[in-house]
Parts: sequence; C-alpha cells; structure tokens
Amino acid sequence: MQKDIINNLLDALALSSTNIPLRLQVASMMLQEKMFDEAATQFGEVLKQQYGNIPAQLGLAECYFNQQKFSTAIVIYEQLQNNLKTEDRIRLVKSLIKENSMPQAIEEYQKLIVMQPGFKDDEIDAQLRMPSMNESFNEEEFLNDDNAWFMEKPTIKFSDVGGMQKVKEEISIKIIQPLTNPDLYKAFGKKIGGGILLYGPPGCGKTFIAKATAGEINAKFINIGLHDILDMWIGNSEKNLHEIFELARRNTPCVLFFDEVDAMGASRSEVKQSAMRHVINQFLAELDGAESNNDGVLILAATNAPWSVDAAFRRPGRFDRIVFVEPPDDVARQEIIKSQLLQKPVGEIDIKKIAAATPEYSGADIKAVIDIATEEKLRDSMKAGSIQPINTKDLLNAAKQHRSTTSEWFASARNYALYANESGLYDDILKYLKMKR
Ligand SMILES: Nc1ncnc2c1ncn2[C@@H]1O[C@H](COP(=O)(O)OP(=O)(O)OP(=O)(O)O)[C@@H](O)[C@H]1O
Ligand SMILES: [Mg+2]
Repeated sequence: MQKDIINNLLDALALSSTNIPLRLQVASMMLQEKMFDEAATQFGEVLKQQYGNIPAQLGLAECYFNQQKFSTAIVIYEQLQNNLKTEDRIRLVKSLIKENSMPQAIEEYQKLIVMQPGFKDDEIDAQLRMPSMNESFNEEEFLNDDNAWFMEKPTIKFSDVGGMQKVKEEISIKIIQPLTNPDLYKAFGKKIGGGILLYGPPGCGKTFIAKATAGEINAKFINIGLHDILDMWIGNSEKNLHEIFELARRNTPCVLFFDEVDAMGASRSEVKQSAMRHVINQFLAELDGAESNNDGVLILAATNAPWSVDAAFRRPGRFDRIVFVEPPDDVARQEIIKSQLLQKPVGEIDIKKIAAATPEYSGADIKAVIDIATEEKLRDSMKAGSIQPINTKDLLNAAKQHRSTTSEWFASARNYALYANESGLYDDILKYLKMKR
C-alpha cells in the first residue's frame, strides 16, 4: 500500500523534478519503509538542488545511521547541532557509541537530558554506565534500606572528636537541639530546617564530626560523596538524589551527610552546567522539603572548596551556616594523639612534646605519624622477639618523616579569603592565618 503511494509520487516527481517538498515527502516515506538506499538517493537529489536543505541533511543522516555508516552520520549531525530533534540526538549518541567515542557520546547524552529531563533508553544506559561504579551496582540494592552500603549506625560520639569546640556547638544548636526539642523551637517561632556546610583543609575531621553527630544522638548516618551520585548513572542523578533523601526520611533520626558538595556547580562547559542545573535544583527542592517532610533528617555537607559551591546553597533555610573546620590546635592535637594511641602498646609518652612538634598537622596527618611509628616498632618487635612499646622519641622521629598536608590548602584558600571574600565568608580563614582583611 505504502509502496504503491511511493511509486505514484515518484511518477509525479518525474513530471516536476524540482518540487522539493514532494521529493522530501517521498524520501521520508521511503525511510519509514526502511528503503534506506532509495531514500538516501532522494535526499541526495534534494541537496543537489538546494544545497544545505536541513530536512534533507537530517534524512540523509538517518539513512546513514540505518546503513551503519555511523561516522558519516556523526559528521552530519555535528554540523547541525542546533537543529537536532530528540530522535536525531538519540541517533547521534548511538552512532558515537558505535564509533567508540565515549566522551563525546556522554556529552551529547547530557544535552539530550537537558532537552528531555526524564529521558531513558536502555540501550544507551547500558553503554554509558560509568566505569567508576562497581559492577555489582543495581538499583534495587541502592534503594533497599537494609542493603544501602552508604548507611550505617556509628558508635563514635562528640567525645571521640578532639577539639572542634565551636563546630560541636554549632551543630548542637543548629541541628541537634531542634531535633530533640522541636516544640521549644516552634514556640519561639524558629523555623527548623537547613543544614550546616563544613569546609576546611583535608583530613581535619569534617567527615569524622559528621559521623560523630549521628553517634551522639543515636541516629543513622548516610554518607554520600556527590561525585558518586553525579557519575553513577548519567541522567539519573536527580532520581538518585531523590531516593537518597527518601531513604533518610524513612530512617529518621538520620544524619544525611553530603561530601564534596563542590562537585555540583564546579563544571565549566555550558552543557554540563545546564545538566548540572537540574541536579542543583533537585537538590535544593529536596533540601527545602518542598514536597516532603524533612523532620528528623539532619543535613550536613562538606567541601574543601567552598568557593566552588553554588551560591544558591547558602540561602536562608538551606546551608545558612558555613563552618570552618580548622586544623586541630595544640590541645586538640593532644586529644587526638591520646585517642589514637589508646589501643597500642606504649611506653613513656610526652604528649605535649609531640603536639608541639606537629603544628598545623591535620588529624589525618597525626594518624599517619602514629602509623609510621607503629610500623617501625612492629619491625623492631619482630627482630627482638618481644613487644617493643612506642615512645616519645619514636613519634618525634615519625613526625619528621611526615609533613603537614594542610599548608598546601591554605596557600590557595588564602587568596580566596583575601580577594574573593564578599560578605566576610572566609574571615575565619584569615583569623586562622592571623591576618587582617
Ligand atoms: N578532631 C579529631 N579528633 C579525632 N580524630 C580526628 C580528628 N580530626 C581528624 N581525625 C582523624 O583523621 C581522620 C581523617 O579525618 P576526616 O576524614 O574526618 O577528614 P576530612 O576533613 O573529612 O578530610 P577530607 O577533606 O579529606 O574529606 C579521621 O578518620 C580521624 O581518624
Ligand atoms: Mg571527608
């Protein structure tokens, strides 16, 4: 039937060979009939008569795609970037996959998702799954409360965290008290909600204190690296984010901790930015509890790069508390050293001396120093055939072998604090560096 019509139209075309709309009509019917060679000839003829005709170019690309001439299809689609409809872009993504051009395929797929946020295609999803995710990932597991690998019930408490008095107070007033005394807060007309953004150099206890917050109030702890969410499954970031919030809401009381929040919004390319926009908006909507109730969910976030965090996060009711987690001071270092040595065989230890020898060291640095000393003592013990305890001297030696890792962070943070410090956001950094604005 369709073929008869095509033949009739071909007859008509023979009489008016310059009728471009008619020729396009015939060609697209041929496409529908999977007559790819014939269709390609007709689209080619249109292009001969009218160089650059866009429907003809798109039609031709579709023929090439179906003829498995993927690289030719890609060339055409890339020239017509601004004229691609969803279907064209799907073919472009598939062609790029066939040609093994994965980075471009991902980029084009992101554009597709911007055009159509809910878009899903099993074939494409199966191909573009990010290598960073382990193979055993499956969605059901991800959504299952009992199996969620990022949910735990911590046993550490605030008392296990050395120093950080100010941070503990902030967390207590801003999120623990409202959770434990909701009526009191309501009586004073204080809105509950929002979270705290912790920032500072690596290894200084941001993750540690978030975990201890959960332990402190006997809550569950969900630890999410945003890089994971964003990489896991292109285009599913929004859905994943929603599921994570839902998981927290089903498991109250719960501390929901977002690590590396700077991952959202740090992207430079325009396409990635607009794809990211959707993710950010989803995140903010979940945070605002617009559609759901966040009661009993304590939200904490952390970053080493607060200057890359989207400004929309800092609005009231969101991350309206930004807290600097500085390297432990002398007293805090003593506490950290003490707690780190607790389970180890120690001899005579002058904690003050060790703390004094490790200025600006992060908690993680101190841990590294103790690890070095422990390893050496282990070796000695094997040689001696009996346990050789760790002494002050061993730790001082180890400190010489491991330098502080925070200074590098301060070198760049200092510039932001000096030159990009609108509204005094980074005054705490300056204070730490004993400098004036
Ligand atoms: N104040 C502290 N008291 C006790 N231990 C600490 C403290 N700060 C850090 N530590 C120890 O150092 C380790 C590293 O800290 P943590 O992972 O919390 O750092 P972070 O600030 O999250 O770093 P990053 O920015 O790299 O994620 C912790 O697991 C903990 O053992
Ligand atoms: Mg951390």
